[in-house]
Amino acid sequence: MTAFDYRQGELHAEEVALSAIARQYGTPCYVYSRQAIESAWKAWDNALRDVPHMVCFAVKANSNLAVLNLLARLGAGFDIVSGGELERVLAAGGDPSRVVFSGLGKTADEMHRALEVGIHCFNVESAPELERLQQVAAELGVQAPVSLRVNPDVDAGTHPYISTGLKENKFGIDIVSAPAVYRRAADLPNIRVVGVDCHIGSQLTDDAPFIDALQRLLALIDQLAADGIRVEHLDLGGGLGVTYRDEQPPAPGDYLRKVSDMVAGRNLTLLFEPGRSIVANAGVLLTRVNLLKPTEHKNFAIIDAAMNDLIRPALYSAWMGIDAVRPRSDDAALDWDIVGPVCETGDFLGKDRRLALAEGDLLAVRSAGAYGFVMSSNYNTRGRAAEVMVDGGTTHLVRRRETVSELFAGESLLPEA
Ligand code: LLP
Repeated sequence: MTAFDYRQGELHAEEVALSAIARQYGTPCYVYSRQAIESAWKAWDNALRDVPHMVCFAVKANSNLAVLNLLARLGAGFDIVSGGELERVLAAGGDPSRVVFSGLGKTADEMHRALEVGIHCFNVESAPELERLQQVAAELGVQAPVSLRVNPDVDAGTHPYISTGLKENKFGIDIVSAPAVYRRAADLPNIRVVGVDCHIGSQLTDDAPFIDALQRLLALIDQLAADGIRVEHLDLGGGLGVTYRDEQPPAPGDYLRKVSDMVAGRNLTLLFEPGRSIVANAGVLLTRVNLLKPTEHKNFAIIDAAMNDLIRPALYSAWMGIDAVRPRSDDAALDWDIVGPVCETGDFLGKDRRLALAEGDLLAVRSAGAYGFVMSSNYNTRGRAAEVMVDGGTTHLVRRRETVSELFAGESLLPEA
């Protein structure tokens, strides 16, 4: 039984009927399952129990404070990419000494704050960033723990917008230049080299590119050791894919066993930065059919969620499952484009979905726990959706729906005349 299953003809989140959530909190609404997040987390953590490790949840995938707090209670570390994400982790009770800071455009202020709270490591993405960090650490009179994000030039074989490990991508330091940058880092007085890092892309459904990257990183670690530079940890980033439709990504346990075997005997702590594989299938976007608009060419089901709520289909042509919360008899099924009310042709959540629909029906967009709410916007002056966490038979509103007045509260009119 998964966290989102049909019981008595109706889709539930754990023990709660989604229609009850729609009634109480309205739609559109993100619904997360505590149990699903916890079990996905444990699949990672348990698989690594025999090796020194730290699993740093990629906050960008879902940064709701309740989600972060749940993970912090389980002992998670966090991978952040901005000062904003750092503040979220702290507000959620996360341990700063278990935080890694990724991202290629860290500002001096962000570095300052991260040093002040004592994060585990900066994943430095360029030589100029290293110099900047040296300067900020010197001003504070501390040493900054550093790992270089190396670009191993492997093809992750995923969507071009989320593939990051090729030479032509903007991320990381190419593996050929890395030894020189490490030597520079080792010479800087306020930098302490602690690790090697990479992240090659997202939604990988095959572990071969990870293994390829790992081999290249291990060769680099050996080369560094020969130069007298010893690293304590190896961070393989995130990127493990999930099933949206029929993809068959490796189970975390299988992937992690291969990695652990390859680093055995090396005295390295393993770090990972999974996002999607912890939360994607722990959430749905609950939405209601507002109007049905059958035409000669196409049938449109106009729902109350839109691309501003969930942009993955519009941005990456991502396919996300869409199911009726209370399925009707298939006799009346038609092919529907499931579209939002936003004034863009790209505003669809699914195309040609065979469903039996009536106005007012509830739909669940599946696998929406990762890169869902976090990528939402206020386009068309639409308030962002509510977020609800289900725990067994209980629901918690973990972010209330935005009101229209909040949307322009920071704006002002020009002075008169
Ligand atoms: N670490 C770094 C440095 C990253 O850039 C990312 C994701 C992760 C970890 C987490 O990767 P994951 O385990 O979630 O694959 N918005 C896109 C995905 C963008 C991923 C960006 N980086 C989507 O909706 O598919």
